[in-house]
Amino acid sequence: MLTRLFPRVAAAVALRAAAAAPARAISVSAVARSDKLFVHRDTPENNPNLPFKFTPENEERVAAILAKYPAQYKKGACIPLLDLGQRQQGFTSISVMNEVARLLEMPPMRVYEVATFYTMFNREPVGKYFVQVCTTSPCELCGASKIVKTIEDHLGIRLGETTQDKMFTLVEVECAGACVNAPVMAVNDDYYEDLTAESTIKIIDALKAGKTPKMGPQSGRKGCEPIGGLTTLLEEPTGPGYGLQAALQ
Ligand code: FES
Repeated sequence: MLTRLFPRVAAAVALRAAAAAPARAISVSAVARSDKLFVHRDTPENNPNLPFKFTPENEERVAAILAKYPAQYKKGACIPLLDLGQRQQGFTSISVMNEVARLLEMPPMRVYEVATFYTMFNREPVGKYFVQVCTTSPCELCGASKIVKTIEDHLGIRLGETTQDKMFTLVEVECAGACVNAPVMAVNDDYYEDLTAESTIKIIDALKAGKTPKMGPQSGRKGCEPIGGLTTLLEEPTGPGYGLQAALQ
């Protein structure tokens, strides 16, 4: 009735009521807030008071890496040195970053910027086997979700978690660059491709047993050859001069 008789008053009342109401998000789904990728928080196993030095063997590697860069551009070695530090320490701790900054005479913040930009640097401890399952479209179309679920069920962890014995950490990643052999997972530096639930379990069990399972396609094909045999280049290639008119031959 108020709306019909006094539309302006009704509009004003509605506006005031809206202003008094608590703000409500348009979306009702859970909001995932995470500063984990960018922010360092001191923990007992990752804080700047824990010393880090390269081992004598790695010091030699550091020298070999630095030798590739002119002295005034040695900060170009930031990524290789962070990678070396991660391989030695198991993850890219704040102490690794600080040591790299010291060696390269860079402000530590510049090194933190690099380490937080590239997701290949794990800034939290991970398991002995860092399992990265690709779940981007080509892998997803070939069953990546099933592979994730298989590993989750087999190891009793969820994505982003580490097993209690610190053997396995499971994460999902964007395209691993081996789409032709989808679905794909990387375990540390090795790729396992053409995965099925069965072959995935075999690989995980072999790793558990301390073995090194065969890398690459698990389907038996070689590299990324067509899985059903050759489809092109089926005949002997023609020789030089093919198709030229007789006068030019
Ligand atoms: S989409 Fe999985 S490797 Fe490219």
